[in-house]
Amino acid sequence: MRRPLYPQSAGRAARRTTARTGPRRHAALLAAVLLSVSVPATLRAATPAPIPIDARSFGCISALKPVRGFFVGNLLGQLGATLKVAKSTTGGVYPPGSVVQLVPTEVMVKQRPGFNAATRDWEFFELDVSREGSTIRKRGFVEVVNRFGGNCFACHVKARPEWDFVCETGHGCDPIPLTEAMIGALQRTDPRCKGSDHVTEADAAALRQLSELMQKKPPAPGGT
Ligand code: HEC
Repeated sequence: MRRPLYPQSAGRAARRTTARTGPRRHAALLAAVLLSVSVPATLRAATPAPIPIDARSFGCISALKPVRGFFVGNLLGQLGATLKVAKSTTGGVYPPGSVVQLVPTEVMVKQRPGFNAATRDWEFFELDVSREGSTIRKRGFVEVVNRFGGNCFACHVKARPEWDFVCETGHGCDPIPLTEAMIGALQRTDPRCKGSDHVTEADAAALRQLSELMQKKPPAPGGT
């Protein structure tokens, strides 16, 4: 016997049929059908559209806003919201579009909530930079390895949760072997910035030390 799926909209004859077969069973069947279609639909809706990012999204590092030793920006025009988290002394969750940089060639950009659970929606970038601008060497999530063979995610995931993958110092990450002088020199000599070819003696010395350090340390297997 055919059972009407929507007893309330069926005609008189159908209502009589429903009375014989029990409306409760129909209600339960309807609930099961609705549940089975609505769960996958919810999962699909949970992955938000990516924020469009290409090489032109990145430029001179010091054109971003300095916060302590690093720089921040926001690709969606929400700089105030990004600065609020970056300057907080208790941490927070960076808003979508946030750009964070310590050195010219490595960038973290926050995608929208639900984009990548493992990286808490951070996308990692490794750039090549020159006077002409930036090119994206690598981008992605847990798999991105920098030119020294280090996996961005593996280090940054160690930051305590309230710091949302931002390591700085004292947030729980293993330290990087760069001194403050080396980091500062890299920032001031970003070739995408105007005037970056005027290198001070101190910055030149820090960069020489850095290149000696890099030669001593061969890239890890799998690195480039
Ligand atoms: C060996 C571990 C390690 C690897 C590999 C690594 N980072 Fe970091 N990163 C750090 C540490 C530690 C700091 C903080 C250094 C400081 O402030 O003195 C940092 C700083 C940063 C910052 C500034 C914000 C912050 O967390 O302090 C960004 C952005 C960043 N890294 C992006 C990347 C990207 C992108 C990659 C991969 C292409 C990468 N990092 C690879 C450990 C690492």
